[in-house]
Amino acid sequence: MQLPDEAIEYSYQRLLAPLPDAWTPLAELQAQHFLSPERVEQMRTLLNAVRGQVAAERELQNPPPKLQPLQAGFIDLPQKMLDQYRRKGDASELGRTLRVATRLKENTDRVVVLGIGGSYLGAKALFDSLCHAFHNELPGKLRMGKPRIYFDGNHLDNDAQQELLELLENTCVEPDLAEERWGVVVISKSGGTMETAAAYRAFRNEMLKFYGPKSDWLKKLIVPVTGPKGKLRDLAKAEGIAEDDILTIPDDIGGRYSVFTGVGLLPAAVMGIDVRALLLGAAAMTKRFLEEPFDRNPVLQFAAINHLMNEEQGKKTRVMAIWNKKLESVGFWYDQLLSESLGKMNRGATPITSVYSRDLHSRGQQHQEGTRDKVINNLIVRTAKHSPVVVGMSDRNEDELNQFSRKGLPDILDAAIKGTNQAYQEAARPSADIILPNLSEHTVGQLMQMLMLATVVEGRLSNINPYGQPGVEAYKKNMMANLKAVPNLPKGEVADAVKGK
Ligand code: PA5
Repeated sequence: MQLPDEAIEYSYQRLLAPLPDAWTPLAELQAQHFLSPERVEQMRTLLNAVRGQVAAERELQNPPPKLQPLQAGFIDLPQKMLDQYRRKGDASELGRTLRVATRLKENTDRVVVLGIGGSYLGAKALFDSLCHAFHNELPGKLRMGKPRIYFDGNHLDNDAQQELLELLENTCVEPDLAEERWGVVVISKSGGTMETAAAYRAFRNEMLKFYGPKSDWLKKLIVPVTGPKGKLRDLAKAEGIAEDDILTIPDDIGGRYSVFTGVGLLPAAVMGIDVRALLLGAAAMTKRFLEEPFDRNPVLQFAAINHLMNEEQGKKTRVMAIWNKKLESVGFWYDQLLSESLGKMNRGATPITSVYSRDLHSRGQQHQEGTRDKVINNLIVRTAKHSPVVVGMSDRNEDELNQFSRKGLPDILDAAIKGTNQAYQEAARPSADIILPNLSEHTVGQLMQMLMLATVVEGRLSNINPYGQPGVEAYKKNMMANLKAVPNLPKGEVADAVKGK
């Protein structure tokens, strides 16, 4: 059950225009670039109607053409996964996910996760935000049995992929030793994405060389996560992988909304992340979205404020200013969520992920004084997990830091957040805060579900279908046509490459 002090909040009061008490140039500028409180107030009725519509869409079996594609399955998924697990245990989808994750954890020291877009960014966000910042460098004992994690199949960079293959070849020599064994999680809902499919061939070939073509490990240490039908499922079955060991992405859940299916949960469980706490956080956010009034509903608040900023105030660039570097990949995950969901019909805000204070020394100048086309959503974690790194006293004080000797990094962070927001305020640059009480499975679960739900609400507010991504097909079609026209490599060269020469 969610503890009240673990609930995340969206605080947007700062970007409401002040009452026109006394005219000042700043008040005038703020009135121009901020939102009027009345306008936000007026949104409540519409938001309630849209919430009702989004809730009703969950039940539609045959959606009318104007709502297609409709993939609202993600809304109730977290609670459904938990309920099914309670009822069916190991036989449920979550039970199967945990079972194959345990097999990978117990039998390998390295796992390569293959996937792209919605089949990659969620798992990467979970890894970066919830695992140790130097997870892969930790000795096995300190990783407490969790394998090292690598991501591939999300690019076409020959040398990057070759270097990962080389790393595996050079560090994993003896397949009988668990500390040298490695496995693959291959994720593709369609099963036909070139980047992932080509990478799967390459890594499977490497596994064939390592384990031997008849080894049982091939069936046990390759786990596909894919749609109910498709080339990857057919291939996995042909390779002898048991149907029960293939995790399924339901049809009614789109790629970028799939982090709480096996797409995100299997890699997360392999990394040792508490997936039940993640799901509890996400389910709590769905409940809040469906039941709470606007004042306590971060989904409706975030959707309304960002919608108005984009559609009525001309703030076409949406900056996610992330104050904890471990959350950067959550920003990249949101980049995709917003771009593919609402970047349609020549519309949709452009997302930018910035990590502060790092990027205050690069993009900061532009955010403070550049084109007035931005709304800034700070992403703030209130309490650090570890004890503070303190400045401390030093014999040498040329840097004049002794005055701060009894302050720690969280104090400097707090001062920087307040200082930056004040600077934005004084320049009439709209900014709001998403606040996480701490960084945990439960809060990250809430955050991701909040952003997915808010994206759907925003889509409905703007009459843009938040599901589907027809624009992505254009490059794929051209790439395939071009590839067919490229001359083949000489046969000898191919044979050498496969043998690893
Ligand atoms: O959101 C989406 O649906 C896309 O970004 C997909 O996740 C991405 O294109 C990868 O597709 P697939 O999982 O079919 O390989």
